[in-house]
Amino acid sequence: MSAKAMGVSLASFPALRLRRLRRTEWLRRLVAEHRLDAADLIQPLFVCEGRRHREPVPSLPGIERLSVDLLPAAVERCAELGIPAVALFPATPPERKSEGAEEAWNPDNLVCRAIREIKRHVPEVGIIGDVALDPYTTHGQDGLVRDGVVLNDETLVALQRQAVTLAAAGCDIVAPSDMMDGRIRAVREALDREGFAETVVLSYAAKYASAFYGPFRDAVGSRAALGTADKKTYQMSPANVQEALREVALDVAEAADMVMVKPGLPYLDVVRAVKEHFGLPTLVYHVSGEYAMVKAAGRLGWLDAEACLRECLLAFKRAGADAILTYAAMEVAARLAEERGA
Ligand code: PBG
Repeated sequence: MSAKAMGVSLASFPALRLRRLRRTEWLRRLVAEHRLDAADLIQPLFVCEGRRHREPVPSLPGIERLSVDLLPAAVERCAELGIPAVALFPATPPERKSEGAEEAWNPDNLVCRAIREIKRHVPEVGIIGDVALDPYTTHGQDGLVRDGVVLNDETLVALQRQAVTLAAAGCDIVAPSDMMDGRIRAVREALDREGFAETVVLSYAAKYASAFYGPFRDAVGSRAALGTADKKTYQMSPANVQEALREVALDVAEAADMVMVKPGLPYLDVVRAVKEHFGLPTLVYHVSGEYAMVKAAGRLGWLDAEACLRECLLAFKRAGADAILTYAAMEVAARLAEERGA
């Protein structure tokens, strides 16, 4: 932008001093272009078997897996803090995993029980359920595998069953995170056919084959299953941004209600591009590794973790994100409430 376009041709230093508007806290607040709001945050929650059982996830400091009976209290807390929705992820017991991921459409699987329990106690909070097979497969891939290849079209049928099972349990938003081609159309068709026309589809449209998912895989227990394999034949290459727009265009054509970019911070350019091109609700996933590295540095005394997390979330807003899935949702929302004097 030229100096003239920026309005600095008539007045400039010393008459114009940009520091004038940074002088006090109230002035800085007054001219803030973006602000954090609990209403834009989504808390991911990990569910495990057991009763009154909570297990810390060592690589995700501050995050615990909770048994189904403990979830309503956690979600109640989200409601109090003004967090509109939670995203559920199951730590499926190894004996329930299989080659064909059949547990994914068991109406009594962990995540379905969790959905029913939450809806019974805190119906006003939205529930997002992941659609992908990795919590349920012995090989840890998001799709069905034959001869070492992740199968596309065969996986779509499994994803349809999983999505319908989630919707039937009361899930408000199903979120395909598997990156198979054609899954949004397949899932939408299955939902509509089974009477779930109101169920929202949130597409993990631009999901990259990222090394930042490590702690998440610990939390759901898919890291060991996956071993040295990777997801590069279906998740996107970190080198590409034009391709992300093609992915989103297809998902929009297949009737996705909202799209997501994942991971977050290393892909702010993608968030911006998607929001500008399509203008539809654009979410971003501040993933496990992004959260863990800030927390780890905080524990070492190398960073102020709370300030860094807030700065990250604000960066998502600045890039154009409408909402943010983040492990920091509850802690940041609690601090925002405190600051409001609530
Ligand atoms: C599984 C899934 C992953 C995440 C969300 N859903 C991991 C993966 O693709 O291996 C990652 C979330 C995070 O790292 O916080 N389909």
